[in-house]
Amino acid sequence: MPGFDLDSLVYPLFVKDGINDREEVLSMPGVYRYSLAGIIDEVGALKNLGIRKVLLFGTGSARDERGYSAYKYGNIISKVVTSLKKHHPEVTIMTDVCLCAYTSHGHCGIIKSESPSVLIDNSATLSALVNMALSHAVAGVDYVAPSAMADGQVGAIRRELDKNGYQDTRIMGYSAKFASGFYGPFRDAAGSGPKFGDRRGYQLDPSDGKQALKEIGDDIAEGADIVMVKPAMPYLDIIREAKDKFGHTLAAYNVSGEYAMVKAGVKAGFWREAEIVSEILTGVRRAGADIIITYHARDIAEWVRKGKFPDENKQGTEEELCRMESGS
Ligand code: PBG
Repeated sequence: MPGFDLDSLVYPLFVKDGINDREEVLSMPGVYRYSLAGIIDEVGALKNLGIRKVLLFGTGSARDERGYSAYKYGNIISKVVTSLKKHHPEVTIMTDVCLCAYTSHGHCGIIKSESPSVLIDNSATLSALVNMALSHAVAGVDYVAPSAMADGQVGAIRRELDKNGYQDTRIMGYSAKFASGFYGPFRDAAGSGPKFGDRRGYQLDPSDGKQALKEIGDDIAEGADIVMVKPAMPYLDIIREAKDKFGHTLAAYNVSGEYAMVKAGVKAGFWREAEIVSEILTGVRRAGADIIITYHARDIAEWVRKGKFPDENKQGTEEELCRMESGS
């Protein structure tokens, strides 16, 4: 296929209550938090560039122990989904379903105990997540993407959506989500870092590939339409094994820290950005990802438009590299 398949990319977007237009995320150059009005314009611009899938994260809402503002009536994400569906109905909207940007402690679920390690109250967390997902479904979201790593989250959400007549709302499970250092910049973007302890009690151990594959299998059995491996670059083996083993639609999340590293290298003059980004995404694709969630998506669309991004299937031909060199 000539060019690059922009339809396989998902662009993450941060929405923040109470700001004007947009503000830049310091840890992620080129990434912004948008106001409710600002995001409508941004999604319009993305659509014109050929990016038609976005993943929404809310931030800036009131916080409490149970993350109530994530699922209360009229929550920030349900408002954004309603207005995006009105203005840009052809754009696929996915929403993150997790409490970490809404809880006072910054953990992904409702807490049962803090020591010796942070333990999540699974059933209380599930009911919060189910309510959050349902509120997004009512607003018209295409995919909900539970990322709290609560046990049984995909199945619980599937049942609740079906029960309420939202059989067509699909689920992308953050199935194999590792307890990763690469989420650092995201936590700055979403203001979602834990105030104490860490997420190792509910996210996966980076050394445990077996458990990752089990979680992916469980999510498929619970009804996930798309399963995900996250982060991408350090877990290419898991992507490949998951694709071979299950053959299910598979997403890889090229996370905030992976993005920030590329940007830091560009700033330091180590490498040409389009070339590096192309090499990374080609690797993730070769490993077996059908869908790639990446903060580079907007830049890629611009590069493709200007003929500055190497073709997917014949990356790095001399002619293309010359063109990139003279263009950048
Ligand atoms: C919410 C969530 C996180 C990311 C996506 N959803 C952060 C975390 O688990 O701490 C990270 C995405 C990124 O780093 O780009 N739980």
